[in-house]
Amino acid sequence: MNTYRIAVISGDGIGPEIVTQAWKVLEAAQKKFGFVLERTDVLLGGASIDAHGEPLTKEALETARSCDAVLMGSIGGDAATSPWYKLPAHLRPEAGLLAIRKGLGLFANLRPAWLYEELREACPLRGDIRCAGFDMLIMRELTGGLYFGERYTRIENGLRTAVDTLVYNENEIRRIAVKAFEVARKRRGEVVSVDKANVLDSSRLWRAVVEEVSADFPDIRLSHMLVDNCAMQLVRDPSRFDVILTENMFGDILSDEASMITGSIGMLPSASLNETRFGLYEPSHGSAPDIAGQDIANPLATILSAAMMLRYSLDQDKAAEAVEHAVRQVLRDGYRTEDIWSDGTEKVGTARMGDLVAERV
Ligand code: IPM
Ligand code: MG
Repeated sequence: MNTYRIAVISGDGIGPEIVTQAWKVLEAAQKKFGFVLERTDVLLGGASIDAHGEPLTKEALETARSCDAVLMGSIGGDAATSPWYKLPAHLRPEAGLLAIRKGLGLFANLRPAWLYEELREACPLRGDIRCAGFDMLIMRELTGGLYFGERYTRIENGLRTAVDTLVYNENEIRRIAVKAFEVARKRRGEVVSVDKANVLDSSRLWRAVVEEVSADFPDIRLSHMLVDNCAMQLVRDPSRFDVILTENMFGDILSDEASMITGSIGMLPSASLNETRFGLYEPSHGSAPDIAGQDIANPLATILSAAMMLRYSLDQDKAAEAVEHAVRQVLRDGYRTEDIWSDGTEKVGTARMGDLVAERV
């Protein structure tokens, strides 16, 4: 029987409760499809700060690396009230997340966003726009750009001055572009590369390298779009997008926008991959400390992230489909967590939602 080692990061805020549900669903899947998951818990973010005084220890990183995949909830707290945010920036929860992404070489962040038939009512867009539906995937570069360039704050000419640096080399652009074209091949064959080439040098290089890569993918249609225009098109006509390829910061912003038009940020999974089968799987949303521990968080994004893990890292496609199908079935059966609830559907809590999906796998 196939056995896989999974590093599990419950994290902070709603993280532990949503990961508990995803693990429930994975347990149902392993029983049904005959494989074994060995769970190793790893601390990241605030949980790690509380235990070890830093958001990611070397040991935790090595444990994660030694596993077949990482399943994660969410990290971070309320910046206004949590003591974690009194620490210097490199010791705060988010620094741990950036360190694990960089440390494991997870340069490709796949963030799919689609509109479930059952959740049309929750979509905030005008009726004629949402009727067209949409199904897109944002391919976000995850280990370069502004997030990892040199940064500092100091006094220059008597003024407090802060600098962040946006750096990309051609290899970093090439490898993420290749991933985008490969994914497009399995979808509708279209890539929109998003940049700010009318202003930024890094974007002009981005555009040039993406053009070069496209020569190897003559079957994929490539176009370029400026990021401000893309932000507008996402709410004007989201149905036009298949794969959106973009750099780290633009991808961060656009993926929140894309997730909101699906009805709730609580629905969207993500996968962060390196060149191998290894990956880290987490919901696209954050730790929502304001609703933590109340059994109202939506666990579906984490459950769908677990499905992505089954598909991309464990090669268990049938199990992945079963999980995705179970989620759809639960929605069809009319169950909703608070964030996606509408008249005529039944409101359920986090744990119940996990049970309902697990039962249907
Ligand atoms: C995300 C989050 C992170 C990011 C934060 C928590 C550092 O917003 O995964 O989108 O900006 O990448
Ligand atoms: Mg974000």
